[in-house]
Amino acid sequence: MTQYQFIAKTLAGFEECLAQELVSLGAQEVKPVVRGVSFSGDTALMYKVNYQSRLAIRVLMAVQSFPVKGERDLYHSIYGIAWEDYLDKGGTLAVDAVTQHPKMTHSLFIAQLAKDAIVDRFRNLEGQRPSVDLDSPDLRVHVHLDQSGASISLDSSDMPLFKRGYRIGAMEAPINEVLAAGLLELSQWDEKTPLFDPMCGSGTFLIEAAMKATKTPAGKFRKEFGFMKWKDFDYKLWDRVKNEADALIVPLAVEIKGSDISRRTITMAKRNVQEAGFIGNIQIEWQDFFQIKKNFSGFIITNPPYDERMKLKDMESFYKNIGSMFKHICTGSEAWIIVSAPEAMNAIGLHPSRKIKVFNGSIECRFLKYTIYQGSKKDSL
Ligand SMILES: C[S@@+](CC[C@H](N)C(=O)[O-])C[C@H]1O[C@@H](n2cnc3c(N)ncnc32)[C@H](O)[C@@H]1O
Repeated sequence: MTQYQFIAKTLAGFEECLAQELVSLGAQEVKPVVRGVSFSGDTALMYKVNYQSRLAIRVLMAVQSFPVKGERDLYHSIYGIAWEDYLDKGGTLAVDAVTQHPKMTHSLFIAQLAKDAIVDRFRNLEGQRPSVDLDSPDLRVHVHLDQSGASISLDSSDMPLFKRGYRIGAMEAPINEVLAAGLLELSQWDEKTPLFDPMCGSGTFLIEAAMKATKTPAGKFRKEFGFMKWKDFDYKLWDRVKNEADALIVPLAVEIKGSDISRRTITMAKRNVQEAGFIGNIQIEWQDFFQIKKNFSGFIITNPPYDERMKLKDMESFYKNIGSMFKHICTGSEAWIIVSAPEAMNAIGLHPSRKIKVFNGSIECRFLKYTIYQGSKKDSL
């Protein structure tokens, strides 16, 4: 099978985890780059990474790279690519661009120029041009421009891969699915220790953990991937890749539970859990974390609210309560918490044994680990 070059994009800080995941999926020449990993492989691998990767946001397949002197140069090089091999004249197209070029700094302009080059080629060669569809095109083209030149690639995922297809109920601040999966990976949860998210919101950690523990492909509930609309889509190969991955799914054999103070959110979490096929396996209940009396000994992972509108004093006492709950009703647990405000981290009042810098969207956060021993003085300030 023909070998291609790919870049799988991910969130900052998860490049190494994604590289390991890609190696385990069979990728070759795996190399972490900024917010991504480059690798090589065949079409089957491209389908497989789209279907199974928990940490990739999209998978770009390289088409051509070339040096660029200026706008005309860029236009002519893109015009020269045999776009008719990838797209029908009556098809639809979208072009995204990212530029780090010192002079050509306007990404929207570059995307427009690239789109013009592609449609001009069709019009001149075939007398008809594809139309633009930014939401759901047959072909999504990606242009990356920097000082060394342009790289043109095709987005084999189209809709970002964090859109897993199980989230039907969203709340105000759900954590991104790839971030949740990445944090689970960083925490090295062993998939055997009971897992609890006491502020579970829409249930993302719970579902991502259950999917990981059952080896459910991350894309199991997605209806579509970009490559399915490509001219060369090989549905038999796709079926094989999908069936091979699905055959590895095992029943959930670990306790996973979540709770939240908001009844509305709990309803949504239950709907999402149901959509992901884990209803009856993941326990979700309405509960104020600060009112829990029974000790939980296991693995805790959570993403408490951080609201910029929250008064500092309220925020400090909220996070102080979290620290106190960890200490008093979570003895014997390993607790991981993602926190953005330094004041909140201090307010927890326990010594984290690990602090990992991560980003939640554009917000810099710390992913903190607390090992909570019974009566240990090491953990308290
Ligand atoms: C940032 S959201 C969590 C998002 C979640 N990780 C998700 O994927 O949807 C924080 C959650 O904490 C919940 N919360 C706030 N105070 C709480 C408390 N005292 N006990 C339990 N849950 C609480 C909120 O209702 C909200 O759902």
